[in-house]
Amino acid sequence: MKKLVIMMMLLAFVGVNVAIADDVVVYENSKGNVTFNHKEHQDRLGDCAKCHEGEPAKIEVNKEFAHGFCKDCHKEMNGPVKCNDCHKKE
Ligand code: HEC
Ligand code: HEC
Ligand code: HEC
Repeated sequence: MKKLVIMMMLLAFVGVNVAIADDVVVYENSKGNVTFNHKEHQDRLGDCAKCHEGEPAKIEVNKEFAHGFCKDCHKEMNGPVKCNDCHKKE
C-alpha cells in the first residue's frame, strides 16, 4: 500500500511537470524568422508573471499579438527593438 502511494505521488509529480516550454521557439514569417529564446528570457526576467498570467501555459504568438507583446517590454527594459534585431533573413 505504501508503495502504491509513493507511485501515485511520483506520477502526480511527473504530471505536473509535463508542461515544459521548449527552450527556443522560431516563428517563421515573410519579414524574416524570429527566434524567441524562452529559456534565456526566463532566466533573465526571473518572474514568469512578466509574461504569463496565472499558471504558465502556451501563449499564442501571432502577428497581431507579437509586436505589442515583445516590443513593449523591450522598449521598457532596453531589449532589441529594431526590425532586424528580431527578424533574420537567412
Ligand atoms: C519573456 C516572456 C516570458 C517569460 C518571462 C516566460 N515565458 Fe513561458 N512562454 C512565453 C511565450 C511567448 C510562450 C509561447 C511560445 C510558443 O510560441 O510556443 C511561452 C510558453 C510557455 C509554456 C508552454 C509551452 C508549450 O508549448 O506548451 C510554458 C509551460 C511556459 N511558457 C512556462 C514558463 C515558466 C514556468 C516561466 C517562468 C519560469 C516562463 N514561462 C517565463 C513567454 C515567456
Ligand atoms: C522584438 C522582436 C520584434 C521586432 C523588434 C520586430 N518584430 Fe516583426 N514580428 C515579430 C514576431 C514575433 C512576429 C510574429 C511572428 C509570427 O507569428 O509569425 C512578427 C511579425 C511581423 C510581420 C508579419 C509577417 C507575416 O508573415 O505576416 C511583419 C510584416 C513584421 N513583423 C514587420 C516588422 C517590422 C517592419 C519591424 C520593425 C519596425 C519589426 N517587425 C520589428 C517580432 C518582432
Ligand atoms: C517581459 C519582457 C520581455 C518580453 C515580453 C519579451 N522580451 Fe525579448 N528580451 C527582453 C530583455 C530584457 C532582453 C535582453 C536585453 C539585454 O540583456 O540585452 C530581451 C532580448 C531579446 C532578444 C535578443 C537575443 C536574446 O535572447 O538575448 C531577442 C531576439 C528577443 N528578446 C526576442 C523576443 C521576442 C520575439 C519576444 C516575443 C515573442 C520577446 N522577446 C518578448 C525582455 C522581453
